[in-house]
Amino acid sequence: MLIAIASDHGGFELKEKVKEHLRERNVKFVDLGTNSTESVDYPVYGKACAEAVASGKAERGIVICGTGIGISIAANKVKGIRCGLCTSVEMAKLTRQHNNANMLAMGGRILETETAFAIVDAFIDTQFEGGRHKRRTDMLDEMA
Ligand code: RB5
Repeated sequence: MLIAIASDHGGFELKEKVKEHLRERNVKFVDLGTNSTESVDYPVYGKACAEAVASGKAERGIVICGTGIGISIAANKVKGIRCGLCTSVEMAKLTRQHNNANMLAMGGRILETETAFAIVDAFIDTQFEGGRHKRRTDMLDEMA
């Protein structure tokens, strides 16, 4: 699995830690920025990561801003993206099982590092359940 990862300045520090966690798990990733804590605009990075996933260049995406809210809104504007903003492992499991989320959003100013790592693990390791959930994700994919 190749994961595209991106953040704004509010998510930069957590992004760097998540990259290290992915390395330890031997999960391949491509970092689409930002590259420092200098202030940048989260829509740029949410869009770039979402386009990498929607085009098939990456299988999944992880985006991080201060809260996770702005960058998840940006990602979800790209057709084919189902980006789940998660603050717990339960949410990460359910957004894979029910929403077939192809992107995960997290808040760098919200989450403890170990919680973020556990959320990333659940996002990577949990399978979509299909069935009635497929009908609903098909409806999502028909929008916009
Ligand atoms: C940046 O200060 C902050 O607004 C951004 O990281 C994010 O939290 C927006 O939703």
